[in-house]
Amino acid sequence: MDRYAVLGQPVAHSLSPRIHALFAEQSGAQLSYEAIEVAPAALAETLARLHAEGYAGLNLTLPHKIAAVSLCETRSARAAAVGSVNTLIRSDGGWHGGNTDGAGLVRDLRENLRLTLAGQRILLLGAGGAARGVLAPLLNEQPAELVIAGRTPWRPEELATEFKALGPVRPCTFLALKGDHFDLVINATSAGHSGVAPGLPADVLNADAAAYDLSYGRAAEPFLQRARALGATRTFDGLGMLVEQAAAAFALWRGQRPATAPVLAALRG
Ligand code: ATR
Repeated sequence: MDRYAVLGQPVAHSLSPRIHALFAEQSGAQLSYEAIEVAPAALAETLARLHAEGYAGLNLTLPHKIAAVSLCETRSARAAAVGSVNTLIRSDGGWHGGNTDGAGLVRDLRENLRLTLAGQRILLLGAGGAARGVLAPLLNEQPAELVIAGRTPWRPEELATEFKALGPVRPCTFLALKGDHFDLVINATSAGHSGVAPGLPADVLNADAAAYDLSYGRAAEPFLQRARALGATRTFDGLGMLVEQAAAAFALWRGQRPATAPVLAALRG
């Protein structure tokens, strides 16, 4: 039986074991998928041990996505560019690191939510690791412009400089957004985990604008509530992204892409 696991700290709340069990059920695949609590100081040793024990694949969640990059023997171009890994695939000598987060977001936006990205004006709130992970796949969709907004100019400027070859990307502060208008606003800040919404100016949403939070559940609510109060007609949390990044990981491991709609419905139910 093939063994898989997600490593994190804390990890007990992770939905990944349930998602992968539902994927396995679809194809009748015999596999196990555990959640393993790992402290940062124990990551290197744990990765080596799970490889020696024959695990076929791993997922990484907070706080390991960045530290694991240098612990992989090889990594995909996307993972190297983003500087973080969420999916490890077993190879003979060690782990191959990939990152399916950004592709998961774009697939959720396009396929599940039927949002158009090409030609649209997109606002990305936050300039940390989560924002970095989704920039390249979003720019690949050829938006009219993608503005990265932060509380201070420095981190948005760094990201915009790094990704400018991929498309029209511009850094901004929340305050300087006044007067700009967007079709889609994506929250990649960690503000919702403290129960607050990022400071989005009142007049930045176009009529019929959509709002998406990379978090799901309670952490997504402060931003989505604010977006609704500012006139967003369609608001979505990141549960679909979570399921899609898991499906992409499952496909990398097993060569077969699971259907995500029934899994998302089961989780929402
Ligand atoms: P992650 O890996 O989750 O992206 P991170 O690298 O710490 O975590 O980045 C979190 C992002 O959320 C940062 O852009 C942070 O803004 P600063 O760079 O100014 O710290 C942003 N953030 C956190 N709390 C916020 C809040 N209350 N309002 C707006 N932005 C916030």
